[in-house]
Amino acid sequence: MCGIVGYLGFRKAYPIVIKGLQRLEYRGYDSAGVVLTNDNELNLYKTKGKVSDLKKIAETQNIDGNLALGHTRWATHGIPNDANSHPHVSNSGNLVIVHNGIIENYNSLKKELIKRGYSFDSDTDTEILINLIEEFKKTNNCKLGKAVQLALKSVIGAYAIAVYDRTKSDEIIVARLGSPIAIGVGEDNKEFFVASDASPFIEYTKDAVYLEDEELAIIKLGKDLRVRKIKDDSFVEPNINELQLNLDQIEKGGYDHFMLKEIHEQPNAILDTYRGRLLADRGLIKMGSVDNNITKFLNANRIIIVACGTSWHAGLVGEYLFEDLARIPVEVEYASEFRYRNPIINKNDVVIAISQSGETADTLAAVKLAKEKGAFVFGICNVVGSSIARETNSGAYTHAGPEIGVASTKAFTTQITILSLIALKLGNLRGELSNSTYQKYLHEMVLIPSKIEQLLKIDSKIKEIASIYKDVSNFLYLGRGYNFPVALEGALKLKEISYIHAEGYPAAEMKHGPIALIDESMPVVVIATNRGHYDKVVSNIQEIKARKGKIIAIVTKGDTIVKEIADHVIEIPQASESLYPLLTTIPLQLLSYYIAVMRGCNVDQPRNLAKSVTVE
Ligand code: M6R
Repeated sequence: MCGIVGYLGFRKAYPIVIKGLQRLEYRGYDSAGVVLTNDNELNLYKTKGKVSDLKKIAETQNIDGNLALGHTRWATHGIPNDANSHPHVSNSGNLVIVHNGIIENYNSLKKELIKRGYSFDSDTDTEILINLIEEFKKTNNCKLGKAVQLALKSVIGAYAIAVYDRTKSDEIIVARLGSPIAIGVGEDNKEFFVASDASPFIEYTKDAVYLEDEELAIIKLGKDLRVRKIKDDSFVEPNINELQLNLDQIEKGGYDHFMLKEIHEQPNAILDTYRGRLLADRGLIKMGSVDNNITKFLNANRIIIVACGTSWHAGLVGEYLFEDLARIPVEVEYASEFRYRNPIINKNDVVIAISQSGETADTLAAVKLAKEKGAFVFGICNVVGSSIARETNSGAYTHAGPEIGVASTKAFTTQITILSLIALKLGNLRGELSNSTYQKYLHEMVLIPSKIEQLLKIDSKIKEIASIYKDVSNFLYLGRGYNFPVALEGALKLKEISYIHAEGYPAAEMKHGPIALIDESMPVVVIATNRGHYDKVVSNIQEIKARKGKIIAIVTKGDTIVKEIADHVIEIPQASESLYPLLTTIPLQLLSYYIAVMRGCNVDQPRNLAKSVTVE
């Protein structure tokens, strides 16, 4: 939930760490800090606010040194203020730490350390951890790596940490449990990088080692990286991965915001999701991870989908897809509920975990639980090599490319794309979809990216609607069938980036409560595509109009009925009902984006949020 960057090598550390922190700000932006070491000195700068605030402070001071650690924080223990910002320094003034995660037993550890004479300047669990390391180092008279290992054995919780001793400026110790950490290895071990993901060091090295849970790495200048298991001290051969990421993918490329760039990337992102899988000319969907486990999918009693946030909404679309096209019963669960309610899972259940980041703590815990209970667990992740991708029995990457904007956009549509491919394939193999219907779907899917391209051109119309409603306090989003999860997603997008209160409902549920909210100042976005329950949705629109609500309708090209009644109409291209979510989502993303921009909100970094939620 926080971002960590570190550098040790022959270059000036500060510019690398600061730029890296800016790339990791999607992980949290409550406060930022950097510590640098030059000739055994520590220069520590930290502040409440963003990395840009930190730069203003640090750049008037001494920022020399070839060793540095930096941190951008999403607050858990302690409010976002200067004192609670990382890095933290031990009582002796020698050891420094940056930490992402939560130490759950911090209270008892703190009491014990106070008894031993330690004092604390912040309210953080992290300051306790660095002093615990110091205490182990002192009492065992051991090296830093050993002291970190001993301290980590006595903590309960989650962590990715980087630690160094200012008196030994050729070494950084890194460890992880539950929070991601990557180590970039420079040529001939002349330099090393540490980061929560690889984006801070892609211009320097393509060689990265991703630590596994309960591993500790000793980074020493000029030496090969050494990795040990925290539990038993055994050595692990570091697995060096070649990074596929490039710089263009993590820059704005001329767009004002990452979110807008990512909305516009959707046609290509979906093509990348299709690549090598959707072979419409050959009448095939080829997915190695599904094909290799096809009996598990075909014999599934039911599919349980676990996810959070937008990924959970994609899971709801999955429910409609699997039940409708493949006739397999589906349950969609919030990972955070699923993991704690002792769910009934059978051997013949297939559990699908969906996560853009692949690091969401609740989804990861749900995956582990489902595996323990004997289910076959399949992951749909975007981030290659992420924890969920590695923990699941098998899975498919969405290949959407890095999603930096905190509000998820292309992750959602590419997750739905994967779910559609699997559902169509299973539907055909189970005999629920005739060959001709199956072929028709495959050819129609090929056209989806160009239909999204068309939709992205209606920008100016959406801007106009945004300017009319940008100052309202509430919004309702309604949809039925496949478009119900899209209504939920539209409402989530609006509330998270514009701070306007918004609710999504199945259109028919409106009568059971939300209708009381409708008056002339309530805008209602209604998704009224021409298939499914069109007539019923038209009746719902009439009910809203009768109460003077304002209708923003998403309709199919050629619609005449809704056009007559709605205040504003956004047209989308024709498609089969099950493919509509891939299209109806686009105008809702744009509407939220423009409303948020017009309200002066920080679209890419909305308040209180972080991109990957690696704490419960
Ligand atoms: O990385 P994940 O897909 O597991 O993340 C799940 C949610 O935290 C995420 O979708 C969140 O709801 C986004 N802010 C939505 O835009």
